[in-house]
Amino acid sequence: MTVSKRRVLSGIQPSGTLHLGNYFGMMKPALEMQADPDNQCFYFIADYHALTQTPDPELLRKRGREVALDFLACGLDPERTVLFRQSDIAEIMQLTWVLSCLTPLGLLERCHSYKDKVSRGLIPNAGLFNYPILMAADILIYDSHLVPVGRDQKQHLEVTRDLAQKFNHQYGECLLVPEAIIRDETAVVPGLDGQKMSKSYDNYIEIFGDEKAVRKKIMRIKTDSTPVEEPKNPDRCNLFAIYKLFAAPAEIREMRAAYERGGLGYGQVKQAIFEKYREHFAAARQRRLSLAANPEQLEEILRAGAEKARAVAQKVLHRVLTAVGIK
Ligand code: TYM
Repeated sequence: MTVSKRRVLSGIQPSGTLHLGNYFGMMKPALEMQADPDNQCFYFIADYHALTQTPDPELLRKRGREVALDFLACGLDPERTVLFRQSDIAEIMQLTWVLSCLTPLGLLERCHSYKDKVSRGLIPNAGLFNYPILMAADILIYDSHLVPVGRDQKQHLEVTRDLAQKFNHQYGECLLVPEAIIRDETAVVPGLDGQKMSKSYDNYIEIFGDEKAVRKKIMRIKTDSTPVEEPKNPDRCNLFAIYKLFAAPAEIREMRAAYERGGLGYGQVKQAIFEKYREHFAAARQRRLSLAANPEQLEEILRAGAEKARAVAQKVLHRVLTAVGIK
């Protein structure tokens, strides 16, 4: 008996340099899922999504290539995992339209990510407002079972599930209802100021930043002013939260004990984080250099990925268009 594989799907916007929030929140879990032979992983560069906030064509193209390089350098294996650009799958736009015709405006108006951007003064375009419908199309067009994401995407996954269920209710069983995979320990990676690490908050540490500049940033991570000799509560310390991302369980226990004993300076923890960071990405940094030196190979990976993704998208779209009465 052949058991069909579970499809795992996720995307990243090429809206700036990828950071530790992207890495620990989504890329690392996604890369671990690629190792399970029962999974077939589809990961993509969400360039249509980034277009909502990137009006510069050269920048959009450049950042798209960089996201692909970052993902490959961090361990994405193109022999096992399908890596592609969202915009290479034209069918996405057709499904987005069909889903738009089912989406109540109120559902979009309630989306936090949109409301957050508007509350920070961004003048929204219709693309930004409709963003969750495009994201639902991204997921539903590949019959995706599992979607590894950080917690900030949870509501978008709920919208996706809502739309799939609404579609199935109206037109009969047609779309697979996906599940979000959100790991508690890395659901919200904190930034330099303790808020969620984000490009928009300018509180991020790049995965492949210049090491000196990254060290400076780490030294700037906000802490309280408890004196060195006093015991400290690791669970209220942003530095400890970041250290935990990199360290092994025994090292975490040791660091916790050092906090609680007293005599540990925040400067020492910052230095430990920097060393962990450097060590963690050292091999990936080397791989990234050789990948970057071979742009044709990168284009070929993305082209082959798009071909595989498109074959699935065409089938699902055909099913959808037949269900709604267009085909
Ligand atoms: P994006 O590009 O903002 O982020 C990519 C992934 O990184 C996660 N992430 C974080 N996780 C934990 N802590 C953080 N500080 C942190 N910052 C970012 C995000 O949760 C995300 O998983 N809308 C998506 C892209 C997208 C997509 C999709 C994702 C488009 N279509 C379909 C999944 C499926 C986004 O803007 O992610």
